[in-house]
Amino acid sequence: MKIVILNGSPKGEPSVTMQYVKYIQKHYPQHEYLFHNISSRIKKIEKNDDLFNDIIADIESCDSIIWSTPVYTLFVPAQYMRFIELIHERNAARAFKNKSTIVMTTSIHFYDHTAHRYMHAVCDDLEMNYIGYFSAEMDDLRKSRGRETLLKFAQYYFESSGEKCHHLKRYQPVTQSEYAYEPAIVAKKMDAGNKKIVLVTDHKPHDANIQAMIKRFSNAYTEGIDIVNLWELNIQGGCTGCIKCGYDNNCMYKDEFSSFYHSRILPADIVIFAMALTGRNLSSKFKEYFDRRFFMNHVPDLKAKQVGYLISGRVSQMPYLHDFCQGIVESQQANFAGMVCDEIGDSNEIDTSIQKLAEQVIAFSTNDYCQPQTFLGVGGSKIFRDDIWGKLRHVFQADYRYYKKNGAFNFPHKRYKSRLTNFVVRLLTRIPGFRKEFYRRIKTEMYKPHKKIVENCEVRPGS
Ligand SMILES: Cc1cc2nc3c(=O)[nH]c(=O)nc-3n(C[C@H](O)[C@H](O)[C@H](O)COP(=O)(O)O)c2cc1C
Repeated sequence: MKIVILNGSPKGEPSVTMQYVKYIQKHYPQHEYLFHNISSRIKKIEKNDDLFNDIIADIESCDSIIWSTPVYTLFVPAQYMRFIELIHERNAARAFKNKSTIVMTTSIHFYDHTAHRYMHAVCDDLEMNYIGYFSAEMDDLRKSRGRETLLKFAQYYFESSGEKCHHLKRYQPVTQSEYAYEPAIVAKKMDAGNKKIVLVTDHKPHDANIQAMIKRFSNAYTEGIDIVNLWELNIQGGCTGCIKCGYDNNCMYKDEFSSFYHSRILPADIVIFAMALTGRNLSSKFKEYFDRRFFMNHVPDLKAKQVGYLISGRVSQMPYLHDFCQGIVESQQANFAGMVCDEIGDSNEIDTSIQKLAEQVIAFSTNDYCQPQTFLGVGGSKIFRDDIWGKLRHVFQADYRYYKKNGAFNFPHKRYKSRLTNFVVRLLTRIPGFRKEFYRRIKTEMYKPHKKIVENCEVRPGS
């Protein structure tokens, strides 16, 4: 079997993920493997038609494709997303049709599921024969069990590749909309007070709906808001994964991104992301923003800010995108203030929703309101806490200092009262009589402290 490997790591050759593919190659040498570094050469691929066409020619002539990529900021690297955009822009999708395929990633398992769902959708759009995914923790290959699992997956892949049936098709093509949003004139504008609002967008001149949505949002206020179009910033490229920022949050790029982030995003009280969706997801341009923000590593730099979204495109057909939008906010300890999308297809409703969002972000910010994190934030924070305290401490030293200073290493073994309770109760429940009584009373005992608070709380009028 001739297999093309599309390497999504911006590091190119020295990629952790590629070692998983090479491990498979070593155990299945009877196949032909053709490697293409995609993300590390994206600028060349974009500029040089011959290079792009050579890759597509290899894809056309192969039997199977391995998408091999690290997870970057809840999806795959912006450079890889750009390549996926190029496939459609340059009408090269037919080369992928009916090819068997797998998606292999390495990560720390922080939103690897969103990356895989997106890549599954990409494969479905390309009408590929999607066999499955392999989501390794980056160090799994160093463990014998990890290697065993990888080889079992490889066996499943090679056995399934010969089958002609379609596997696991899950996503329908994204439907296009011709709907044009026409905002009404805002009757009464509101004063944003001392709240700093920054809106980040990726729209191009033809993205009329998102431009109208931005205008409508901005018109809700008496004063103008700070609007940044990512196309107008000098951003030299996507994150290369060099991780030099791990020491002191300094990015190796010498372009405008870091100073823009420090001077316009960090001082804001309210951040609005206004996205013009492209193909299957947010655009690779917007993804570049989120990847480049990685110079702040795992510091929750949006903490206590209000974050909202204006989106033009079919969010409802991209379930992973909603998790991304909410997850990125929650994992930064900001408040997910709301999302307005033009797919409702009704200008009055969009007006009302945008107005509501504009009012809500001010009210929430004034009240210092941050809703409790869901699993998306709680789960993510625990992964970061464990890895930054543990195996990634020497790499992400700036994170470590921040986490230590801000009490983020809140491990349960430091809760001495609950440890004592656990010890005593576990001992006592060895006694059958105590155990019976304990489990008989547990339901009421669990809610008693909460009930006590409700009964004894002071009620402030109007609260
Ligand atoms: C910019 C950047 C963003 C990352 N984002 C994520 C993420 O969202 N979730 C995750 O689990 N790991 C994330 N990682 C960790 C990488 O996925 C992980 O280190 C991977 O093994 C790197 O593979 P590679 O050497 O093939 O590039 C990120 C790393 C970098 C540099």
